[in-house]
Amino acid sequence: MLYRTEIIFGDSREVLKKYPDSHFNLIFTSPPYADARRKHYDSISPDEFPDFLLSFHEQFWRVLSEDGSFVLNIKDKVVNGRRNRYVWKTVMALEEKGWLSIDDYLWLKPNAMPGYWRNRLRDEWEYCFHFTKDKNFAMYQDAVKKPMGDWAEKRLANLNGKSAERHNSENSSGFGRDLRNWLGKEYVLPGNVVQVPLVGKNMGHPAVFPVKLPEFFIKLFTKEGDSILDPFAGSGSTGIAAEENLRNVVLVDNNLDYYNLMLKRLGSDNLLGRKRKFINENELITK
Ligand SMILES: C[S@@+](CC[C@H](N)C(=O)[O-])C[C@H]1O[C@@H](n2cnc3c(N)ncnc32)[C@H](O)[C@@H]1O
Repeated sequence: MLYRTEIIFGDSREVLKKYPDSHFNLIFTSPPYADARRKHYDSISPDEFPDFLLSFHEQFWRVLSEDGSFVLNIKDKVVNGRRNRYVWKTVMALEEKGWLSIDDYLWLKPNAMPGYWRNRLRDEWEYCFHFTKDKNFAMYQDAVKKPMGDWAEKRLANLNGKSAERHNSENSSGFGRDLRNWLGKEYVLPGNVVQVPLVGKNMGHPAVFPVKLPEFFIKLFTKEGDSILDPFAGSGSTGIAAEENLRNVVLVDNNLDYYNLMLKRLGSDNLLGRKRKFINENELITK
């Protein structure tokens, strides 16, 4: 089986027009931060952010398969001492375009930078919003299950009498859980807080996320041979996760320095079973 990595220099709103409908099974991406990194790449003010992201909606919707997922990793921002709600407004704007908000995952960074702020504690997490086009979407929970450990035994040891038999819902909804079902089980689903340490500096890009972050969602929402898109690819972390997990991937960035960084980072040292294609927007247009 030959897998394909495409690294493309260009504005993803234009680049994606060359791809067929429903081509991708997963869009995993982290868009430019609102205002935060002006020195490094064009940034958008928090007030303009929802409209900026909506300008990608048409192509994202078109190129994503009907059972595909769109996971948006996005960092919140404090403006004048208050949380600016541009992130929530962006989510609402996407919902109005038809995207279904399936779940809000949090990326927890156990090694977040220490510091002191008078009115709040340190930022230790970022959102990963999970959107789909349809309620029936592909999800491969077995691929992210984790060992149960001795959780069930410990949990049951603390229960006695009726509570050890069945834990009924406290709001009379009729739902209940029988904790004994978990005895002897080896694996359990992880929660929707994904703990991944930040990567070290000097990657040549100011906002690199760790490869383990896209990897978690790639495993959860795609299978081997599926196609993944990162339309704000930066240093190409999503590409590394996709390659390591035998997926096809398209990486797009409109900054030449980051495009070149991707070429370097996803170099040709491991071409076994994989076809790489390095293109810029003009080359793509001529194909
Ligand atoms: C937050 S960074 C992504 C970092 C990436 N997740 C990584 O691990 O390296 C966002 C990237 O989006 C790129 N970008 C901004 N506008 C774009 C556009 N219209 N098309 C393609 N890329 C764009 C920026 O150059 C920047 O590298």
